[in-house]
Amino acid sequence: MQYTSSLVLAFAAAASAATIKVSVGQNGLTYTPNDITANAGDSVEFDFFPKNHTVTQSSFADPCHPLAGGFFSGFVPTKATTLGSTFTIVVKDTKPVWIYCSQTEGDHCQKGMVAAINAPKTGNTLAAFTLLAKNATTSTFPPPGTPIGGTLVKSSGNTTSSSTGTASSSGSMASSTGSTQFTGAAAGLSANMAGMGALALGALAMV
Ligand SMILES: *[C@@H]1O[C@H](CO)[C@@H](O)[C@H](O)[C@H]1NC(C)=O
Ligand SMILES: *[C@@H]1O[C@H](CO)[C@@H](O)[C@H](O)[C@H]1NC(C)=O
Ligand SMILES: *[C@@H]1O[C@H](CO)[C@@H](O)[C@H](O)[C@H]1NC(C)=O
Repeated sequence: MQYTSSLVLAFAAAASAATIKVSVGQNGLTYTPNDITANAGDSVEFDFFPKNHTVTQSSFADPCHPLAGGFFSGFVPTKATTLGSTFTIVVKDTKPVWIYCSQTEGDHCQKGMVAAINAPKTGNTLAAFTLLAKNATTSTFPPPGTPIGGTLVKSSGNTTSSSTGTASSSGSMASSTGSTQFTGAAAGLSANMAGMGALALGALAMV
């Protein structure tokens, strides 16, 4: 079997990149950990716990509302007996990435269900973001449908199904328009990286 050079590069990146696991809703309205440090190329795997949460990217200045071109897991209803659904993003660079739960029933974001990847230690900190979120208007989220900007693996107990979304609803790895969605400076995800990561994982599975 022959590998293309990009696949070999993706393989090398995946082999050295870490996967950081974050629990969603395991200890109440929280992401654990919520102050995440990651290197470019690392994956962040969000593991869903009851009851019905999302992983949604916002800007720092506008918590509880989606960032254009940002990632969105969709709602992941989770029963106590059906753990195992995950949403995984690949970190593009070390710029801060701001995250919230879009659930409006119970105002999860306003109640502090927020997280950050590579938040500054001073100035725009996670604590400052959390305070802004408390004052935010009712949460909004992208239209439901396929996940955006990451890979969702939905578990319903015994079976799992996987779907991968790019940050453009019409985008794919081959799409020339897909990357134009990544104009937000805070968008910490590359659709191509996500796709390459998936390929690299496939390659790992073959060896
Ligand atoms: C999950 O929450 C969303 C948003 O509130 C809602 O539309 C959806 O019906 C919920 N799903 C379940 C299974 O409760
Ligand atoms: C939140 O709103 C309160 C009351 O209006 C205000 O005093 C406070 O400064 C606001 N906090 C932030 C972080 O905007
Ligand atoms: C799923 O697993 C549980 C526990 O092993 C079993 O009782 C149940 O019948 C399974 N459901 C399906 C649809 O296979």
